[in-house]
Amino acid sequence: MSLKVTPRENNFGAEITGIKLCEPLGGSLAKKLKEAWYQHQVLYFPNQNIDHNHLESFTEAIGPYGIEPYVKTLDDHPHIIEVRRDPHEKIAPFGGSWHSDWSFQEQPPSATILHAKVVPPIGGDTHFADGIRAYEELDEALRAEIDEMEAIHSARRPYSHEGYKLGGDRTSMTVLPSDDAYATQKHPIVRTHPESKRKTLWINPVYTLAIDGLSDSASKSLLSKLFEHLLQDEFILKLKWARDMLTMWDNRSVLHCAQGGYEGHLRLMHRTTVAGSKPF
Ligand code: SIN
Repeated sequence: MSLKVTPRENNFGAEITGIKLCEPLGGSLAKKLKEAWYQHQVLYFPNQNIDHNHLESFTEAIGPYGIEPYVKTLDDHPHIIEVRRDPHEKIAPFGGSWHSDWSFQEQPPSATILHAKVVPPIGGDTHFADGIRAYEELDEALRAEIDEMEAIHSARRPYSHEGYKLGGDRTSMTVLPSDDAYATQKHPIVRTHPESKRKTLWINPVYTLAIDGLSDSASKSLLSKLFEHLLQDEFILKLKWARDMLTMWDNRSVLHCAQGGYEGHLRLMHRTTVAGSKPF
């Protein structure tokens, strides 16, 4: 069995086969996987029948764990979040608006790893947006305008007490709203990926509140122009899950959005993150 990387047509996303994630990864395999990940940004591994311990070993082979705020992790696996929506729930899916995980942290996670345990018969896909191509295809004048700008990120919309109340009751996951969610963090709008050195458009509609130094209306108008560009269909990968598929994406250059459309069915996933560094 040997590692096979099958990129999608436009190189954004690749399927990984010839590997068993229930076995130790080993240094050289981890290195090859990371190289594929830097290149394709979203890797998906079908048919990986793994348990929590395997998910932890795989995560540790990629890097140290990230910090999980505002969502209760599993009691006996403090780095794993159970992403669950029960059949009766009407609330929007967890992660159901475009975002990059925990972008309000000073050092947001580099990777998110998500493993599918129960996949509904319809809906429940995850969509990913390619921030690198979006940046490269921005018109030159706009690129020059935003190249040195910073944006203000915060967890307040989903995770302050007020923000959480607006979202409705999520009964199958324990969310922990807090006043900490009002804290803000500045990050560059155009981020350089620390490994591939490629520039990426790094803002998201959930956690990016404003552009530093602009008036409210100028900031709103520039952000909506940038989001409209970034979330065009041509930059989006629409991932259809199957039971036992594991996906690992790069939060330093990719936005994602969980899709609904499976009311009346259970969807159950397990998620870890890998620590990242301060964006520059
Ligand atoms: C997330 O935002 O991490 C959840 C993504 C998903 O469940 O598809």
